[in-house]
Amino acid sequence: MRGANGLTDGHIFYRDLAKDYIMAEKGEGIYLIDKEGNRIIDGAAGAAVVCLGHGNERVVKALTEQASILAYTHMSTFTNEPVLRLSAELIKLTPRRLNRVYFASGGSEAVETSLKLARQYHVENGNLQKYKIISRSTSYHGATIGALSMTGHYPRRKHYLPLLTQFPRISTPYCWRCPFGKVPQSCDFECAYDLERAIISEDPENISAFIAEPIIGASAPAVGPPRGYYRIIQKICHKYDVLFIADEVMTGYGRTGKFFAMEHYEVFPDMIVLSKGISSGYSPLGALIIDEKVYDVIANAPGSAFVHGHTFAGNPLSAAVGLEVLRIIQEEKLVDRAAKLGEYFLKGLNTLKKHPMVGDVRCVGLLAGIEFVHDRKSRKPFPEEYKVGGRLQRICLKNGLYVYPGRVSSIVDGGDHILMAPPFIITEDQLDEIVNILDRSIAQLQKELEVHE
Ligand SMILES: Cc1ncc(COP(=O)(O)O)c(C=O)c1O
Repeated sequence: MRGANGLTDGHIFYRDLAKDYIMAEKGEGIYLIDKEGNRIIDGAAGAAVVCLGHGNERVVKALTEQASILAYTHMSTFTNEPVLRLSAELIKLTPRRLNRVYFASGGSEAVETSLKLARQYHVENGNLQKYKIISRSTSYHGATIGALSMTGHYPRRKHYLPLLTQFPRISTPYCWRCPFGKVPQSCDFECAYDLERAIISEDPENISAFIAEPIIGASAPAVGPPRGYYRIIQKICHKYDVLFIADEVMTGYGRTGKFFAMEHYEVFPDMIVLSKGISSGYSPLGALIIDEKVYDVIANAPGSAFVHGHTFAGNPLSAAVGLEVLRIIQEEKLVDRAAKLGEYFLKGLNTLKKHPMVGDVRCVGLLAGIEFVHDRKSRKPFPEEYKVGGRLQRICLKNGLYVYPGRVSSIVDGGDHILMAPPFIITEDQLDEIVNILDRSIAQLQKELEVHE
C-alpha cells in the first residue's frame, strides 16, 4: 500500500500511482509543514495559487464569517452580496468595456465557460458556422474536454485525442526557441501573423475565438512575447470577428507584477479568465470577465440567457474569500511587491547559469521558470526518460523546497523545466534561500546525470 507517512490511504486515487505523497499537516506563511515537522518552502504556491501564503487569518475570518451567514445559494434563482461586491471590485480593475463577471469554481470551468460564451455570442449574431477556437502549440488551458481541446501540450492530450475537438493551433512566441529561427530584434512577429494564416486557412467563417496565456504558465513557465505581439493579435482578431480570450488563470491577480499580465502589453482582450490566485487557495473559485459587446449580444437575444451554469458557481463562500484576498492584495500593495521581488529573484536565479544544465532562466513578477538543457550550445533538451524535472523536484523537496516540474512537450523540441511562483509575502532573504537550495540541488542532479560543460 502506498503510504502518506504510514497512514492507510488505500482508497485514495492519486494522480501518479508510482509516486509517494507527502502528508502536509499544516501551512504557515510560505511554508508547508509535514508530519515529521519538516518545513518545506512552498516555492510554487501549490500551482501558483497561494498568493497570500498559508494561514492568513483575515481570509480565514472572512471564510468562517460568511459560512455562518450564508454558505451557498444556487445562481439559477438567487444572487448574493459577496458575488455582487467581488464583481464590482474586479470591474474597477479592468478597462471600461470589460464590465461583466461570470463566476466558476476553477480554471478549467472558467475556460470552458469562455469557449461556450464565444460560441453563443456568434450564434446569437447569426454566425452559425463560427465554432473553432485557435490556440497556441505550447499552452495549457485545463483538463476538461473543451479546455483540453484548446490545449497544445501533447502529453496531456495524447490519451484523449479521439474525444477532443480538433481545433487549429498556431506557433508560440517562444523567443529562446523561436519556431521561425529568428531573434526578437528583427523577427517581424511572424508568430503573431501566424494567427492570420491559421484564420484564413481554416476560413474566417469558422473561427470563433483565439485563446492564449499572456505569459505562459505550466507548459513553458514565464515565456512571454515581446511587446507589440498582442497588438497585432488584437488587430487580427478584430479584422475577422474573432474573440480574443486571455487565459489569466495563472498570471492574473498580480502574479506577474501587474494585476493582469495583459497590462504589460497595454492590450485588453474580449474576455479574461481568472482562477488560482483569486482565492489564494482558501476556497475553489474561478471567474470570467467579459466585454460588454459580448454581454450585450446575449442580453439582447431572444430569451436573454447564457445557456450554461455550474452548481457551485457564484457561491457566497468563495466570493467572500475572493473579496478578502483582493482587499489584502490592494491594502498591502502586493502587486507592486511581486514586481519588485521578481527583479530581485531574477538576479538570484541568473547566478544558477553557472551550472551547465541550466539553459534559460525567466522571471516576470513572481512567476519564474528554469529550463534545463543536456547540451548548452545546441540547447538540446534531456531525453524524456531522464525525468529531469521530477528528479530535481525530489532533490529539492529533501532540501526543503517545493518546485513544480514540467516538460514543454514530447513532440515540440523543448525540454524539462521547473516553475516557481512563491507567495507574494515572501521576503528577499527567503528568495535567497530558494536560490541556495536550487544551487545545491541542481549541483547534485548534475553530478548524478554526469553533465559537464
Ligand atoms: C493557464 C491555465 N488555464 C487553465 C488551467 C486549469 O485550471 P484548473 O486546474 O483550476 O482547472 C490552468 C491550471 O494550471 C492554467 O494554468
